[in-house]
Amino acid sequence: MSDKTWTIGRVLNWAADDFRGRGFDSSRLDAELLLAKVLHCDRIRLILDNLRPLSPDELASYRELIQRRRRNEPIAYILGKREFFGLEFKVDSRVLVPRPDTETLVTTALERSAHRDQFGTLLDLCTGSGCVAVCFALKRPTWQVWASDTSAEALQVARDNALRLGAPQIAFRQGNLFDAIDGGIRFAMITANPPYIPQGDIPGLAADIREFEPHLALDGGEDGLQLVRGLVDGATRHLVPGGVLAMEIGHDQAERTRALMNQAGFVDVETTRDYGGHERVVSGKLRPACDD
Ligand SMILES: C[S@@+](CC[C@H](N)C(=O)[O-])C[C@H]1O[C@@H](n2cnc3c(N)ncnc32)[C@H](O)[C@@H]1O
Repeated sequence: MSDKTWTIGRVLNWAADDFRGRGFDSSRLDAELLLAKVLHCDRIRLILDNLRPLSPDELASYRELIQRRRRNEPIAYILGKREFFGLEFKVDSRVLVPRPDTETLVTTALERSAHRDQFGTLLDLCTGSGCVAVCFALKRPTWQVWASDTSAEALQVARDNALRLGAPQIAFRQGNLFDAIDGGIRFAMITANPPYIPQGDIPGLAADIREFEPHLALDGGEDGLQLVRGLVDGATRHLVPGGVLAMEIGHDQAERTRALMNQAGFVDVETTRDYGGHERVVSGKLRPACDD
């Protein structure tokens, strides 16, 4: 074998260097994930078979995926999947790629429902890929879980994820925030990761976000809080007294969100930080009836 042969090891070094030169954050990891997809194997196999030469077809397929990444397509869309809360969610351009920070929303919802872990009703608004609703439903299998989104395309992805990951009981609805839910139903908990990027900040986002992820999933109106205001207001009519609203928000939006919730009659308003230490989730309890 000549030292010019495109072995797994050589092609990986080349692709990682190429990605690094383009300023991609996780160049080596991206190079490995793409090659593992082409070869239908895991990343350990790439190390074990470091010296294996690639066939012309394998090289051609790898080149195609490299071109997609070079055009800034998110790695999760190219792979068609993203791990979230230990589960593998299918994702594509119809939905936002689930972020590790959003796991904080799931843990907050689980913690704030721990005292009533037998029965309850959860509504996950702005569900996207369904990642929050599915993780919650699997951890609280006796709860009734509803999930909604204004995007019919996103709901197709969420439904598929729920069925594949073993949460077929989730009821999906389409509509603008609470319009998706039949009047009269009140929930013990409402979760949401709404779009919260201020409109004016969208042109400055990284190209893989700005050019590929749905703008409907990003655009939070002029100050980023348009949907948050709608959620806080609507939650007062869709939670049982004592029910909990938990929302993911932008890293500098916690104070304004706490103020909105306090004004609307929420108590025990708390903030949870994400893995990076940012205030990421604000949650509070609708004032119980006996406090009125
Ligand atoms: C930031 S993404 C969150 C997706 C998913 N929950 C997650 O955490 O990865 C926001 C989602 O809200 C949806 N959305 C935007 N405006 C909405 C509205 N007015 N009513 C309901 N859903 C909306 C978008 O379609 C998108 O799926």
